[in-house]
Amino acid sequence: MNRYRIAVIPGDGIGREVITEGLRVIACAAQVTGSFEVQLTTFPWSCAWYLANGRMMPEDGLQQLGQHDAIYLGAIGFPGVPDHVSLWGLLLPIRQEFDQYINLRPVQVLDGILSPLRDRGRRDVDILCVRENTEGEYVGIGGRFKRGQDDEVAVQTSIFSRRGINRVVRFAFERARERRRLLASATKSNALQYTAVLWDEVVRELAEEYPDVVVSNYHVDALAARFVVAPQSLDVVVASNLFGDILTDLGGALQGSLGLPASGNLNPERKHPSMFEPIHGSAPDIAGQGIANPMAAIWAGAMMLEHLGQPEAAALILDAIRDVARNGPRTADVGGKASTHEVGSAIAARIAKPG
Ligand code: NAI
Ligand code: MG
Repeated sequence: MNRYRIAVIPGDGIGREVITEGLRVIACAAQVTGSFEVQLTTFPWSCAWYLANGRMMPEDGLQQLGQHDAIYLGAIGFPGVPDHVSLWGLLLPIRQEFDQYINLRPVQVLDGILSPLRDRGRRDVDILCVRENTEGEYVGIGGRFKRGQDDEVAVQTSIFSRRGINRVVRFAFERARERRRLLASATKSNALQYTAVLWDEVVRELAEEYPDVVVSNYHVDALAARFVVAPQSLDVVVASNLFGDILTDLGGALQGSLGLPASGNLNPERKHPSMFEPIHGSAPDIAGQGIANPMAAIWAGAMMLEHLGQPEAAALILDAIRDVARNGPRTADVGGKASTHEVGSAIAARIAKPG
């Protein structure tokens, strides 16, 4: 029997509500497949914990997380703690310290949920976004000079390494090989003549190793438009940290609600735990009401099981999500009236009795 040690960080707001449903669905998939067990350790690290302890996690927090096979995260951030404090105090250290250099985001329209591309279905929108997750525009190098004065200036530097680009682009080529063998690379080499040109060079070099994959280079602005006007032409998309951040939110919007998209922060070498999360935040506007859509958190749980080596359980969960999207019950963000718990339970029930 495979036993996985999972570090659970429910976090803030609806993060706590949706992770409860995700864990319910994972337990159900474990029971139905009989092929694995999960051993959960829950960490209370959050903005509430910060207000009581003055930090987002204990000093040895990363060490504690490091003893697990994977991290399952709700959302971090809440009014009362500035977002840059919660982000730099917990999420970014985890991504960087554990070298989770891939951010993987499936963008799929589910039949039954109205997307802005409502006349299209799953056949038209099935994109896998591979975002660089440790360097690029988000290295946090820079400074402010003459703070508060009229002639104040700020500098923020990007770091693009050949090694960093190489490993994320190679990962994307590998995923393309498992899918429709199309790779779209987001660039902006007309305006960014150093970083984006290096990016393009590495893509071109690697393309020679993958002659079976068709590569297209798009300026990121044109690629954004393509997500909307010709999503069926996209299979795997690879992008830098900032470009990927923006494109994946666009992808999330196409899915019809922030309650659906999920992501994995992967350390493909498995030297460190990878982390799986819904892409939405803690939604303070609806927190505590039991009405958040748990589908993104449940989808993130499926990605976690896939990464841990349980593709059968992951597929069962995704099929159940698709089925409940089609037939209900649905939460308010996707046009229904059901509660978080009702949707989580319906997905779990579907796994127990597929049909
Ligand atoms: P948000 O994603 O929390 O909410 C944006 C809007 O989408 C809200 O109207 C919310 O009600 C709705 N929404 C989000 N998830 C939903 C769900 N599952 N079901 C139904 N409706 C849903 O983004 P916002 O309001 O900008 O950020 C709130 C806090 O969350 C901030 O502190 C922010 O820093 C944090 N945050 C954390 C993230 C993380 O932990 N990875 C990601 C994004 C934001
Ligand atoms: Mg984002």
